[in-house]
Amino acid sequence: MKITHIGVIGAGLMGNGIAHACLLAGYHVALVDTFEAALPKALATMSKNMERQIAKGSLTAQAKDEALSRLVTATSYTALGTAQIIIEAAPEREEIKEAIYKALAPLIGADTIIASNTSSISITKLASITGRADKFIGMHFFNPVPVMKLVEVIRGMATSDETYNTIYALAESLGKTIATAADAPGFIVNRILCPMINEAIFALAEGVGTVTSIDSGMKLGANHPMGPLELADFVGLDTLLEVMRVLHNGLGEDKYRPAPLLIKYVEAGWYGRKSGRGFYDYSVTPPKPAR
Ligand code: CAA
Ligand code: NAD
Repeated sequence: MKITHIGVIGAGLMGNGIAHACLLAGYHVALVDTFEAALPKALATMSKNMERQIAKGSLTAQAKDEALSRLVTATSYTALGTAQIIIEAAPEREEIKEAIYKALAPLIGADTIIASNTSSISITKLASITGRADKFIGMHFFNPVPVMKLVEVIRGMATSDETYNTIYALAESLGKTIATAADAPGFIVNRILCPMINEAIFALAEGVGTVTSIDSGMKLGANHPMGPLELADFVGLDTLLEVMRVLHNGLGEDKYRPAPLLIKYVEAGWYGRKSGRGFYDYSVTPPKPAR
């Protein structure tokens, strides 16, 4: 089927970037977030990021206006009725995602595909409660979406070839490179990346290094664009903790246990950039180590 209308659920760190990429690729986008304040915030972020592209000469002001004219935002899932593909980017909690899929069922077309941007959760398991397991798939973008070239595509046990091919073609139309991953905890990238970040938090807690020396160590010693603690704050410590829990439970080895310091930070509400404080304090520029 020719795809023209995309729905995006969740207008947070990832949802606004996914909507941004789909709009610039020419799609109509319905962006839904049940937390009303998230919508103007997402619009402001998209506008700012498109201005970055205009400043760089990779986008025109007219193209930005035209793209944003194809965006509708809403707090109700009823806005997703015309979507042919719905990309879900709600928090990394199975119960939240499953409640969304159940609420969607009577509101969306029989042929509508649901793709989850989950970082780690079993696609097969999420699919099993949608009533359309053949039309459910993992479509895992990377942060920040407008910049990161990769999309991981993950089939559940029941995902049909048609669904896989449609989502693969969508990712290509967004200018992304696709890595097809098995439906295993954390898929490919997060199975490798998140334990590395988790290890940096163990190293911090044990005094192996400081926030500054650990991050500069990996930036200058391994040529990473961001240090692991800066990256943890960028991704969101809440999301990182959920991913580590999925890896630990799914793979059953203690090496995946979340660092106790990560748990403490999330318990404190220190989620990183999105809450203003994580391993760094974002109330000052440049952000400074918070301990
Ligand atoms: N949102 C959108 N665009 C951004 C951005 C943001 N937050 N930050 C920077 N950019 C854009 C800039 O506009 C610029 O774009 P152009 O090339 O078109 O000008 C480009 O990114 C480079 O920006 P800067 O030079 O200002 O900044 P930088 O060189 O420090 O790059 C970065 C910023 C691209 C984020 C870089 O630091 C980086 O690549 N960090 C690592 C990101 C990463 O590892 N992401 C994966 C996380 S894991 C994940 O996403 C999976 C999961 O499930 C948790
Ligand atoms: P976020 O907390 O920044 O955004 C989640 C958004 O979902 C919030 O705006 C929230 O209001 C909204 N929301 C919550 N419950 C909802 C519901 N029932 N219906 C509609 N909207 C709802 O989270 P995020 O970092 O954007 O992560 C979203 C998903 O993307 C997660 O599954 C995460 O694992 C995955 N992911 C995150 C990253 C990252 O770097 N943060 C990268 C790749 C994938």
